[in-house]
Amino acid sequence: GFSWKLADHPKLPKGKTVAVVVLDGWGEATPNEYNCIHKAETPCMDSLKKGAPERWRLVRAHGTAVGLPTEDDMGNSEVGHNALGAGRIFAQGAKLVDLALASGKIFEGEGFKYIKECFENGTLHLIGLLSDGGVHSRLDQLQLLLKGVSERGVKRVRVHILTDGRDVLDGSSVGFVETLENDLANLRAKGVDARIASGGGRMNVTMDRYENDWSVVKRGWDAQVLGEAPYKFTNALEAVKKLRAEPKANDQYLPPFVIVDESGKPVGPIVDGDAVVTFNFRADRMTMIAKALEYENFDKFDRVRYPKIRYAGMLEYDGELKLPSHYLVSPPEIDRTSGEYLVYNGIRTFACSETVKFGHVTFFWNGNRSGYFNAELEEYVEIPSDSGITFNEQPLMKALQIAEKARDAILSGKFDQVRVNLPNGDMVGHTGDIEATVVACKAADAAVKMILDAIEQVGGIYVVTADHGNAEDMVKRDKSGKPLLGKDGKIQILTSHTLEPVSFTTMSVID
Ligand code: 3PG
Ligand code: CO
Repeated sequence: GFSWKLADHPKLPKGKTVAVVVLDGWGEATPNEYNCIHKAETPCMDSLKKGAPERWRLVRAHGTAVGLPTEDDMGNSEVGHNALGAGRIFAQGAKLVDLALASGKIFEGEGFKYIKECFENGTLHLIGLLSDGGVHSRLDQLQLLLKGVSERGVKRVRVHILTDGRDVLDGSSVGFVETLENDLANLRAKGVDARIASGGGRMNVTMDRYENDWSVVKRGWDAQVLGEAPYKFTNALEAVKKLRAEPKANDQYLPPFVIVDESGKPVGPIVDGDAVVTFNFRADRMTMIAKALEYENFDKFDRVRYPKIRYAGMLEYDGELKLPSHYLVSPPEIDRTSGEYLVYNGIRTFACSETVKFGHVTFFWNGNRSGYFNAELEEYVEIPSDSGITFNEQPLMKALQIAEKARDAILSGKFDQVRVNLPNGDMVGHTGDIEATVVACKAADAAVKMILDAIEQVGGIYVVTADHGNAEDMVKRDKSGKPLLGKDGKIQILTSHTLEPVSFTTMSVID
């Protein structure tokens, strides 16, 4: 039978503090000028690799090895931390949605029946990331959803798009909008009143996470629900092209816009009697908007108007909060995570990162559950992230502060496991700024050093690994691995994660 109680390890000594360090976005790739980890001074990570080759391994962090649909799927933090925290591989949201769409089961579930009630008299709003990145959402899933609802009696559909440029190349938003507009035109030809109603860049509109900056969600609310935004266009393609032409503009940070008719009236605000689906499968960046849409009592910003709607998520985004209460596809059931085992065995845990990655070592680690398993045995510390900046402006981020907290937790003797996420390689890597990413990698390496020094001081054990690649390759490549040039003749910067493996290093404790 199943028991939470863990037997003692036959050889490992008891009572040693274990540090688990996750370097976010830190893959292993051939050294070259686009490998920021190679370009940076990283003496600590270099010494781990050289020092004990028998205890330095590469592990896959992408594709089916971590529960993603195909080998073309790059790794990401949700999948990476789910796998690390649970020690098992689960079919992930992307895959589960694919299966539910392929079998048609998505249209038979409770969530779909719930929103379908509005198809006759209301509008169906679809809000999410317009991208084929496969990290938060996928365009082909949106297309199948649109097809499915149009075959099941929907009369009016409004899509609220969020442009990507972070999991996919910057500038790819234009092509995605063209594809979607084409699909919507086909639906109109079949008698469904279908249009894009609003939009904005994912980092500026709606997709904040871990309550870093509610104003991001508010900008989305204003455009999607109230039909208000600083920019108004009659056509989404024109909107994206014009806004991208502004100096320093990019897909990730496009300002919010609404689509209006000839008389200047927004074509798709969300009103009483409508249905709303957030079509991202990934949880972290949907939780805040889900709260705004679902909670009767809500004080994070002034919603001005709170429409009576039927709302469903593509997935359930938070298993502890049961948020949202309606969803189209059941999430992976990530049970018996390591964190839960630890509390059942009286093992004390300390977890820390800065805001933008805090949920990675807590929420994702614990199988997409917010909160503690046992507050008496666990302490989670969040260092506030700088908000309102892009992280190439502050590539050091809070690495040092995270390391100091971990060091103090290790030296305090109050914890058995101390785990951290060091965000630099990933968050700065996503900006596409190579110079800043080099600075970021150096800072993360120094943080690892501080934590390992503390472990050495107490005679503890360390495990250093990463969730997926990012900073080790900053250029888009062709199949043969050659950097690709854009239309402008310049190399195409890769802001996204990669398919590279990550290293896993530990130390000898039993010889
Ligand atoms: C993001 O949400 O920032 C990116 O899409 C994925 O990055 P992460 O998986 O490293 O969080
Ligand atoms: Co990332």
